[in-house]
Amino acid sequence: MPKKNTINTLLEMKARGEKISQLTCYDFSMARLVDAADVNTILVGDSLGMTMQGYSDTLPVTMDEMIVYGRSVVRGAPNVFVIMDMPFMSYQVSVEQAVTNAGRLIKETGANAVKLEGGAAVKEQIKAIVDSGIPVCAHIGMTPQSANKFGGFKVQGKGEENARQVLEDALAVQEAGAFMCVLECVPPKLAALISSKVEMITIGIGAGAACDGQVLVNQDMIGMSGSFKPKFVKHFAEIGEAMTQAYRDYDAEVKAGTFPAPEHTYAKSDCSDEFLEQLRAEY
Ligand code: KIV
Repeated sequence: MPKKNTINTLLEMKARGEKISQLTCYDFSMARLVDAADVNTILVGDSLGMTMQGYSDTLPVTMDEMIVYGRSVVRGAPNVFVIMDMPFMSYQVSVEQAVTNAGRLIKETGANAVKLEGGAAVKEQIKAIVDSGIPVCAHIGMTPQSANKFGGFKVQGKGEENARQVLEDALAVQEAGAFMCVLECVPPKLAALISSKVEMITIGIGAGAACDGQVLVNQDMIGMSGSFKPKFVKHFAEIGEAMTQAYRDYDAEVKAGTFPAPEHTYAKSDCSDEFLEQLRAEY
């Protein structure tokens, strides 16, 4: 098992031109599987509001909920650098609120960094969190917590003015101290330009292959999100279908009486037939 990454080893990977893999993860059992696969970083994304809690967006997720999921992931993936997402309204109100909540996420989960959405608008928050000793991953482009402002989950950085805005956001979060930045739903040439301009690590999702690394939502990439399949998602396996089939087979075998078979029982611990007959007669 390779040694757990730090912000230094991740930045060295960018310097060497090595791509960085990131997956979202929300629970202990999946975290163990991601850890076993040597994925470089885990994001405990507030996308858990959709994947784990069934909401239609990420806005209802609370700090306390993030902490419960985050702790389970850190326990399951002790060898992976874990980033905790800051949920909606846990950092926007004030710099003090942002530092307090970033501190809680690190202290109460054991994760290694926090992520927050927004560009120049949150640079004071990023600087203060970094100054308090917590590495920050920024998130620009399509930021799902602002979907209402964008009028939906829409590609950002289209057109010259918007492209300039996304680049300026990237420069602002880097100047504030972010070591990593998610570029979500940004056109690929703009993402490539940003990735070559900044020293921080760019992690793309729907932003093309030129970013320094990639992130996908775990459930999406293993076929567990039903019919939801944005253009940038690739199914690397069909685990959802395999699970439904397993549940169908179980249901059928229980009903047919073929499960459990003798090998699934503790037959050797049974008393003698004579004694069981005696019990039957006694009661
Ligand atoms: O919440 C999340 O999972 C994210 C990723 C999609 C980048 O922010």
